[in-house]
Amino acid sequence: MTGKASPDRRRFLTAGAAVLGAAASAQLWLPNTARAAEIPLPDGVFSLGVASGDPLQDGIVLWTRLAPDPLNGGGMPDSVVPVEWEVAEDERFRKVVRKGTAQARPEYGHSVHVDVRGLRPGRQYWYRFRADGQLSPTGRTRTAPAWHSIRGNLRVALASCQNWQHGYFTPYADMLSQDPDVVLFVGDYIYESTPSSAGPRRHEGTGEPYTLTQYRNRYAQYRTDPDLAAMHANAPFVVTFDDHEIDNDFAGEIPQDPANQSHDAFVARLTAGYQAYYEHMPVRAAAVPTGPHIQMYRRLNFGRLARLNVLDTRQFRSDQVTSQAAAQDPSLTMLGAEQKEWLLDGLKDSPARWNLIASQIMMAETDILLGEGKQWFYDAWDGYQVERNALLDDFRSVRNPVVLSGDRHLTMISDLKVDYADPASTVVGAEFVGTSISSNGDQDQAAFHAQWDPLRADNPHWKVIDAHRGYHLLDISREGIDAQVRVVDTVVTPQATPSTLARLRVDAGKPGVRVV
Ligand SMILES: [Fe+2]
Repeated sequence: MTGKASPDRRRFLTAGAAVLGAAASAQLWLPNTARAAEIPLPDGVFSLGVASGDPLQDGIVLWTRLAPDPLNGGGMPDSVVPVEWEVAEDERFRKVVRKGTAQARPEYGHSVHVDVRGLRPGRQYWYRFRADGQLSPTGRTRTAPAWHSIRGNLRVALASCQNWQHGYFTPYADMLSQDPDVVLFVGDYIYESTPSSAGPRRHEGTGEPYTLTQYRNRYAQYRTDPDLAAMHANAPFVVTFDDHEIDNDFAGEIPQDPANQSHDAFVARLTAGYQAYYEHMPVRAAAVPTGPHIQMYRRLNFGRLARLNVLDTRQFRSDQVTSQAAAQDPSLTMLGAEQKEWLLDGLKDSPARWNLIASQIMMAETDILLGEGKQWFYDAWDGYQVERNALLDDFRSVRNPVVLSGDRHLTMISDLKVDYADPASTVVGAEFVGTSISSNGDQDQAAFHAQWDPLRADNPHWKVIDAHRGYHLLDISREGIDAQVRVVDTVVTPQATPSTLARLRVDAGKPGVRVV
C-alpha cells in the first residue's frame, strides 16, 4: 500500500518543511488552549507506553493508549481527551517536523492512532505524546525506504507467540540490542487462557476474556512487560493476529468449542476481541473493526527491495478438518477467494526483489507419522492441502518468495516445495517459522530432539528444527537474506543470556534456504 508517485512525495516533503520552519524556534510545547482542562486526568496516563507501526516511505502510525489504571478497564473519565503529538528528527525534539492533536475517545478505550505522513523515506524519527500536561515516554521509529530503492540492508525481526504465563519476554531485550528496522509479529500477541499459577507469571482476571473490558485488561497486562514495551518504543511493528487473540483454533465465526459457545455469543466475543486488538496495535484506520470483522490482510513495500504481504489466515478459513482424507478436500480454503486473489495479484505484479508473506501458521509440510504414510496438523496449511499446493505451484512464477510464520512454538526452517509427496520435487521458496517469544516456556531440548529428530527423514525439507525461545533476525539485501536464529537460555527469569543458534542464507534467484 505504499509506492506513492514522486509528485506526491514532493508535496508531502514541502508540507513537512513548512511545519519544520514553524516549529524549529519553539523547542518546548506552548500551553494548549484546546485542552479540555475541566476534567483533570489521573496521574500515569501513559502506563502502556508508546508504539509505532506499518511504516510507509513517507509515513508511520504512532500509538498510545491513556490508561492510568491499566488492569481495571483503564481508569479514564468517560470523555474525549485531546492528546498532542509531535515527531522530530532528533531525540531532544529540537527539530520537530510534524505535530498535531488527536482525540482519545472512550469508545476506543482512549487509544490514540496517529497516521503521520509527510516524513522522509528510510530514516529515523522520534515521537512523543502529551495529555493534560503529562508527557509520554519518547519513542523512536523508522520510515520505509524510498519506493525506488533496492540498495542497502533491511533488518527484519520475526516474532510470534508470547504467552505471559509461560515466561518473561526476554527475547525482546536481545532484539532491542540488534536494532531491527521493523518487527514483524505474526500472531498470538496475547493468550486468552485462564489465569494459572503453574508458570512464572499469572494472567490477570479470573477467567478467559469475553467482554471488551476483559480483553482490554489482558492486552494492558501484556504491555506492562518491560522488554516488550521497550521494543515497541524503539522500532515499528507490523502485526497480524492468530487464534489466541480471540479463542484457540477458531475459524471465522466458529469457536474452538461450538458446544460451549453459541454463535451469537462467539460473534460478541469476536467483536470485543477485534476491537481490543485494534485499540492496542499501531495499525491504520483501515483496521478499525466493523462488528465481528477486521481488515488485517495488507501489503507494505520496503522500496523495491522487499514487499511484505501480511495474511489473515483466521477470518476467512474453512473450519479445521479432523482426518487426512478430509484435509485433501479441494473445497477447503485458508484465505477465502477474495484474499487469495489479492495475494496472487500482489505477488505476480510485484516489482520487489523479495516477496515476503507473513503467514500466522506454517506452510511447509510437517509429517509427524514416522515412516510410511503421513500425519498432519490440521490447523496449519497442511490441513488445507489443495489450496496450499496450488499456492506453492504459483510461487514458481514469483520472484524470491519467502514465507514468515509462527504458531508452532518451534524454530522450523524449510525449503518450500511444489509437491511434498515427491522428495525430488522442485524447490520454490523458503520458510522461517520463528519459534516463540515465551510460549511453551523453557523446553527440555533433549526430549524435543529425541521426539523430533527421527521425523527429519520424513521431512527432508527441514533445515533447522529447534525448541528454544527467541526470534529470527533477517538481514535482507539485494543479493540475499542472511538469517540468524536468536535464542535465549531462559524465559522463567526476567534476565536471560542470548545467543545465535543457527545462521542461514537465502540467495536471490536460487529458491530454498541453507545453513551456513
Ligand atoms: Fe502460539
